[in-house]
Amino acid sequence: MDFQGISSNFSEAGVEALAITIFKGEKATSSDLKELDKLAGGHIAAAIKSEEIKGEPGDTLLVRLNPKGKLKAGLLLLVGAGDENEYSEAGIFVAAGTATRFLRKCNVKSFAFMPRSKGSAAVAVQNSVQAALTSQFELDKYKTKDKNSKLVTKMVVCVNGASNGELKIGISRGAAIGDSMNFTRDLANEPPNILTPTEMAKRASKMAAEVGLKCEVIDEARMAKMGMGSLLSVSKGSDEPAKLIVIRYTPAKNKVKNGDLLALVGKGITFDTGGISLKPGEGMDAMKYDMSGGATVLGTMRAIALLKPSVPVIGIVAAVENMPDGKASRPSDVVTASNGKTIEILNTDAEGRLILADAVAYAEKQGATRIVDMATLTGAVIVALGDQNTGIMGNDQGLIDEIVSLGKETGEGFWQLPLGAEYSKQIRSDIADIKNIGPRGKAGTIMGAVFIQEFVDKAKWAHLDIAGTAWHDAVRPHQAKGPTGVAVRTLIKLVESSQ
Ligand code: BES
Ligand code: MN
Ligand code: ZN
Repeated sequence: MDFQGISSNFSEAGVEALAITIFKGEKATSSDLKELDKLAGGHIAAAIKSEEIKGEPGDTLLVRLNPKGKLKAGLLLLVGAGDENEYSEAGIFVAAGTATRFLRKCNVKSFAFMPRSKGSAAVAVQNSVQAALTSQFELDKYKTKDKNSKLVTKMVVCVNGASNGELKIGISRGAAIGDSMNFTRDLANEPPNILTPTEMAKRASKMAAEVGLKCEVIDEARMAKMGMGSLLSVSKGSDEPAKLIVIRYTPAKNKVKNGDLLALVGKGITFDTGGISLKPGEGMDAMKYDMSGGATVLGTMRAIALLKPSVPVIGIVAAVENMPDGKASRPSDVVTASNGKTIEILNTDAEGRLILADAVAYAEKQGATRIVDMATLTGAVIVALGDQNTGIMGNDQGLIDEIVSLGKETGEGFWQLPLGAEYSKQIRSDIADIKNIGPRGKAGTIMGAVFIQEFVDKAKWAHLDIAGTAWHDAVRPHQAKGPTGVAVRTLIKLVESSQ
């Protein structure tokens, strides 16, 4: 897709359509709208007055300019952007995505977008570009017919008064982040016969080579040498060997003192049958996205490589398939993890925490001082928070607060659930140090987190349960249904804010 940024009036852009945001309750009296309204023959003021558009996020109204008047474009799209006082990058992202998807349906190939943000021009451009890219992602990769062939191929972002530098930075950052989110979403959407742990490692290596990251793939023999009995207990039941993917970003100029290192650790279960504790058949197909946490790590690392922050980051993905088999783990098996703790496996379907145990311990061995793990870990988080908020838990309130607050900027919801000694007691095992499930039906999401906590030593740690947010069952005005790429944008901010 082609992007251009201009600081002049967007009515000059030589495109097929113009899209402009409209705030809740606004009249066409602000100077920018007034001017455009004049050019558009009063259509904007009329549409607002008649309440054909109210300015709610996701609202759209297409006006055909006939004759085209002074505008080069024949179509004018008004896009709702909500409350003007709350309008920031999250709102720009939704509005730009909504405009792109709407115009794509109208077979428009090129349009100009005016985000009308009072904030930073670079941020406005970045979020417009990001959204143009992510809003056009579709699930039709494997269709041979009926593929969505209509694509918007050019967007001109217009921000009055922006400098060339701001426009340029906004476009390059937006493209880096938007493409990286789509990279994550493409992985999450891949069928599990295609995206095996080996294939996931291959895609990671290829991506790393393309953007200049170091990628190391640790095989089962090396994992066994490191004593990763917990991770390997999940992989045992599959013909597909597990891979521990380790990606390192080292900045040219490292500004970090004290040897701080942030680790992003992801659950990469390429398919989760439940193992011997087999899941019911209905809905099991959804478990192809059980590698979304790992995909988020890979997409975020890709973006980081392109954005080049001045702090180092290590990305770790435990890519494993969870299958029932003659060699699979049994409920009641006891295994030893790489930190020496013994685990009684009481349910082989609680496998995410088993692989994260060794992955998180490995992150700390690599020198991580802050760890953020992400995983489609529990069905319980979907019951608690649905698809709007990611569950967040951890051992460091500062780190949690930072992620929650950065999520407010990006529009990604994070909602904290409590941890504590009383919860941790509930995973004590009768015969081993810990067991991999808590009491039936009680605090399922927290039980997953306190389990992972057992494998964090001194690092500050936050756990993101993205089971509800990594996949949306319904289409939204700015996004197709399916994989969302959740947390990529917020994690990029986390990295950049520690520069
Ligand atoms: N991958 C699932 C969690 C999940 C469920 C993600 C639904 C997305 C949608 C995880 O491995 C799992 O099976 N968790 C169990 C844990 C239980 C056995 C303690 C669950 O949530 O039922
Ligand atoms: Mn499971
Ligand atoms: Zn799982």
